[in-house]
Amino acid sequence: EGVAFEHLLVSSPKPGVGLVQLNRPKALNALCTPLILELNSALRTFQSDKTIGAIVLTGSEKAFAAGADIKEMKDLSFADAYGNDFIENWSDLVTFLKKPLITAVNGYALGGGCELALMGDIMYCSNTAVFGQPEIKLGVIPGAGGSQRLTKAIGKSRAMECILTGENILAKQAGEWGLVAKVFESPQECVDGAVKMAEKIAGFSQIAVKAAKEVVNKSQDLGIREGVEFERRVFHGLFGSRDQKVGMGAFAAKQKPEWTHE
Ligand code: HXC
Repeated sequence: EGVAFEHLLVSSPKPGVGLVQLNRPKALNALCTPLILELNSALRTFQSDKTIGAIVLTGSEKAFAAGADIKEMKDLSFADAYGNDFIENWSDLVTFLKKPLITAVNGYALGGGCELALMGDIMYCSNTAVFGQPEIKLGVIPGAGGSQRLTKAIGKSRAMECILTGENILAKQAGEWGLVAKVFESPQECVDGAVKMAEKIAGFSQIAVKAAKEVVNKSQDLGIREGVEFERRVFHGLFGSRDQKVGMGAFAAKQKPEWTHE
């Protein structure tokens, strides 16, 4: 806290909750490189802050993010893009973050904006949300995981339709397809709802929460058998934590658990 960003608003609206709001209104939160670097930095700060148990990422009422910054990208050569690993620093956003990330989408989540939303462990949106991968209209394709994460989220045929036609997916459809966990009635309710769920998560043992996120994410990469075996190893491992004794002991004694995060 206390760090001023040019393109972000960072706060802790509830105990244990870190909130990052993308704040580049002039460009509908287009994700220019300086913004991505700031986002990396803000998330890293929350990651290393022991008082923070879960993080919410949102944009404005009009736009979560309208994509990567087209004006910044338009003159890149292949050598610029490939040689300088353009977009690679984006994937850091998910790989280093061990704490749960909730993305709360209002308005446009297009291209890289949709891909950023998809990096959330839980996605919420309001009825104003517009998801899409319009890269095809620009002569390119999704470059920050959209072709993989969107396909896993809504299935191949729907993802193909979206990515090949550039047609948007509206909030109601996103809810029906399970792209998001919930569709809220308004942007404010969406952010408040996300913060409330983050607060709930932050109220549990950080050890258990970290393990839970880790095992669910493994399901994206492993087959069912390896995945279940991995889950069991991690489950067994938690009997070495203090919070397992705290949690089960409190249940047996009809008390409220006082988590130690150990
Ligand atoms: C740079 C952008 C931008 C973007 C909007 N702006 N999106 N600038 N990159 N992705 C700027 C506009 O140029 C404009 O600036 C200002 O934001 C407001 O946008 P308008 O177009 O005037 O607003 P509106 O008419 O309401 O239309 C909203 C919109 C449209 C439908 C979202 O802006 C739009 O289509 N944007 C591009 C969406 C897109 O193609 N995204 C994918 C990008 S490619 P000025 O200066 O004119 O006021 C991508 C690749 C990802 O993301 C690969 C890996 C990261």
